[in-house]
Amino acid sequence: MPSTTAPGTSPRRVLHDCDPGHDDAIAIMLAIADPSIDLIAVTTVAGNVTLEHTTNNALRVLDLLGRGDIPVAAGRAAPRVRDLSTAAVMHGESGLAGPLPVTPSSGPSELTALEMIEQVLTEATEPITLVATGPLTNMADVVEQLPHLHHMIRELVIMGGAVELGNWTPAAEFNIWVDPDAADIVFRAGCVPGGERTGIPLTMIGLEVTHRAWLTDEHADALRGTGDVGQFVAELLDHFVGFHQDRFGWEGAPIHDAVTIAHLIDPTLVTTLPMNVQVETESALCIGRTVADRWSVTGQPANAAVGIDIDRNRFVTMLLDRLSP
Ligand code: BDR
Ligand code: CA
Repeated sequence: MPSTTAPGTSPRRVLHDCDPGHDDAIAIMLAIADPSIDLIAVTTVAGNVTLEHTTNNALRVLDLLGRGDIPVAAGRAAPRVRDLSTAAVMHGESGLAGPLPVTPSSGPSELTALEMIEQVLTEATEPITLVATGPLTNMADVVEQLPHLHHMIRELVIMGGAVELGNWTPAAEFNIWVDPDAADIVFRAGCVPGGERTGIPLTMIGLEVTHRAWLTDEHADALRGTGDVGQFVAELLDHFVGFHQDRFGWEGAPIHDAVTIAHLIDPTLVTTLPMNVQVETESALCIGRTVADRWSVTGQPANAAVGIDIDRNRFVTMLLDRLSP
């Protein structure tokens, strides 16, 4: 069943910062398909692949959805301090391996990502939700350069980090590992959504959650032929599921980034706990680790709501519903 907004409430206005990427692309599609979300702008960052590719991919996905009216603004082309390391091995050189390449019909905004975010927050009459599903390079700029507009950020929901094991190194998840210095800035600015507003309300959807949010070949086949969007997602999954089968021996592929949007659509889907999270920026072995104080052993105040579980069946049902007509 498609969700609707409660009577008398308007759709949640969301700006999505991303590095498409298979799962980023599916997150965009889910946001556009669900009536409870009003996707007002997309900003891009280098991560899975270079900024040129992530920006083209965002434009391409919006074209496919007939939503070329949603502006796309390109952000940072490299992490704050370190060189860019991509995940082309997982997403292909283009970032969207699987479907045949297509050139987007239009280009990005003349504004940078930071300028776009500043404009959106300045012009908004109600606070805006930010979703970040790539390295947090652009979001660190928002923290540092737009302090006068933080009150217009309703909350920031990120896909990144892990309480336990990493995926890109034994200690770290990819998005945080690519730009740990940016992630450090963002987590230092965070506070727990729904609690006292001492910073930017921050939700971390990490690998404990997203490794349970996977789709298989069967789901690809269920979507194939259901329409342009279903067909495109099926072709994305052909590559993405195949990679995870070959590399990890898993039956399916985690659709990490789509969980952020699913969490906004249905806040009962992901279980979260308030935790203090700090980011390791120095250790050679553990750089990019999100050190999450699951058992409150440090006495440090919680600065984020951290996802620890998801109702996978409902997540899968939501995705299949929204991605096929
Ligand atoms: C994250 O890394 C990227 O490859 C995915 O798009 C996702 O955002 C998962 O670790
Ligand atoms: Ca991503």
